[in-house]
Amino acid sequence: MNELSRRKFLSRLTVGLTAAISAIVGLPIVGYLVAPLFSAPPDDLVPVGAITDFPLGETKLVSIRDPSPLAWAGQTADTALWVRRREQSGPQMFQVFNINCTHLGCPVNWQAGAKLFLCPCHGGVYYSDGSVAGGPPPRRLFEREWQVSGDRLLVRQQPLPTVKQG
Ligand code: FES
Repeated sequence: MNELSRRKFLSRLTVGLTAAISAIVGLPIVGYLVAPLFSAPPDDLVPVGAITDFPLGETKLVSIRDPSPLAWAGQTADTALWVRRREQSGPQMFQVFNINCTHLGCPVNWQAGAKLFLCPCHGGVYYSDGSVAGGPPPRRLFEREWQVSGDRLLVRQQPLPTVKQG
């Protein structure tokens, strides 16, 4: 009886200590992994190039980092935008589009010859101003706010929009 109680006690002690050590080691790891989901993404204007990098009438691809990358996102946080130079200067000078199709998010490609954005996934087609030309996309390409500062083009970072936000 005495022997059995001691064995039970040691068994429970082992389970309790294992649980305590797991909690001590595991909680900071879980906190590290989950914390980015609850922090607000930065809302910054970031430079994407010199104005002279964007010739009038052309649409060019620029790289940008996702403003809300998860700590473990790595290279997947790198994304891109299409920058269209419409005018020499003024408030209509640029249009900056998210690269993602508004149907299911595939990256669209600019076809300079046809002056169309084509989505390789389900055949979505957009005109050069981002409006839908055909296929399944439910709305025009998402646009980013931009600003010219000195000779630099700045674009506002923002999380990937969803169709709901549009
Ligand atoms: S994701 Fe572009 S058409 Fe479906």
